[in-house]
Amino acid sequence: DNPPWPAFRGYHTYSFANATMGHRLPTILGKAIDDVIETLNTLSEEEEIIDLVKCIERMATLKKELHQSAKLRPIKDDGEADVILWNKEIAKYFEGKDFMNAPWLFAEAYKYRRLRECFTVSKFWVNYDVFFRQKCDTFARSSDAVFELSTRFAKPFQHEKHPSNEAKLERERLMFMELTQICLWGNSTDLSLLIDMTEEQIKTLQSTGGEALAETEKNILGNHMPRLWEVVRDLKNKREARIDFILDNAGFELYCDFVYADFLIQGGFVDQVRFHGKRYPWFVSDVTKKDWNWLLNTMVYGHLFTKATEQEKETLRLLGLRWKQYEKEGKWIYEQHPFWCTGYTFWDLHSEAPDLFLHLSKSDLVIFKGDLNHRKLTYDCAAPYSTPFDVAIGSMASASGAPKICSIRTIKSDVVIGLGDDGENIGSKLDKDEKGWKISGKYAVILLSEGRPG
Ligand code: F6P
Ligand code: MG
Repeated sequence: DNPPWPAFRGYHTYSFANATMGHRLPTILGKAIDDVIETLNTLSEEEEIIDLVKCIERMATLKKELHQSAKLRPIKDDGEADVILWNKEIAKYFEGKDFMNAPWLFAEAYKYRRLRECFTVSKFWVNYDVFFRQKCDTFARSSDAVFELSTRFAKPFQHEKHPSNEAKLERERLMFMELTQICLWGNSTDLSLLIDMTEEQIKTLQSTGGEALAETEKNILGNHMPRLWEVVRDLKNKREARIDFILDNAGFELYCDFVYADFLIQGGFVDQVRFHGKRYPWFVSDVTKKDWNWLLNTMVYGHLFTKATEQEKETLRLLGLRWKQYEKEGKWIYEQHPFWCTGYTFWDLHSEAPDLFLHLSKSDLVIFKGDLNHRKLTYDCAAPYSTPFDVAIGSMASASGAPKICSIRTIKSDVVIGLGDDGENIGSKLDKDEKGWKISGKYAVILLSEGRPG
């Protein structure tokens, strides 16, 4: 089943798709090549050097293909678990298509898969991450927001002495609302858009104060947070409750996701959180297992924040230790299904990755983070602003066994749905008054689908 609206494509000159395919992706590739050259310059072993030079040549070829909008070829059998999924989709839908006339979502994902292939066919560099330096660096430049959160949340969450049940619940509700927003705005620091931000700009983007939160809630154009709270609140009465996060970006966003997940565990809402990351570098800043480990270890052992006080560093260490403990106890689990690194939208998740669908259907709530996950949920097509979320996500809402699904996303691309009955007015007013509102990350949606028990 497909939605009735056309998918965005690179040749739609009015869209962000066009800017991405024509400009952003070649730039991102260019920077990736620079990163590899930086590594190359530190090498001394001839065999490794020759091998890495070949990786660079393959990247240069890819860049040229992108430039000339070449036809999409099958992925080489490089041993990745997703080769069959990729080539099946290419053969079925994209035979003869090129970078510009294939749907944007697919063509963009394909580029990241081809980038992966540049390394998987090498001898020494199979696991090289061209974005790793950038990911670490941006987290290092987020120190203000990092310590603001660690100083507040390092001590375990506690209620005042003898509060009434209502008072307790109200305090938890307020915390939940705030942390949901922290988790949301953590998504605006995505590297693919913000590569050249100054420390000052990052700071503004990440300010998490109370007033700032009330102000930013106005920018959540489709807002199901109150219902989301009811869903989470009711999990308290359930045994072995589980929430899943389909992760987006590493570094600061992952850190915010952790703060949120920590509260869900400490508040006794859930017993287990399953985090779904990527098997390899993806859309610049997405989380891999290496990024996950790096964050936790740098918090506990790292010397990343040279200007921080001992006390600040101690709060970060405490948080890191607690989170590592969750991992040891199986309360937090990292997973990486091959399907997440394919070009399929999630309309096809239940047919192309039935095992994953079944796995997610056992969750009490599946939270999809970020823009790309939102595009995949909604088929990345030109649906009207007022389209209800559960209509926009197709089988992810309607298939038997569909879990409750929440999309927490700052708006960074063309597709915008779920704005409610007045959605057409809200959207067209912004179209008129605020050029670029769909790519600035200033606006957001938090949308929920109730699912369909199997
Ligand atoms: O290239 C466009 C895009 O896919 C947009 O969806 C967004 O601008 C960015 O890349 C990824 O954003 P996020 O990290 O929030 O998924
Ligand atoms: Mg991302």
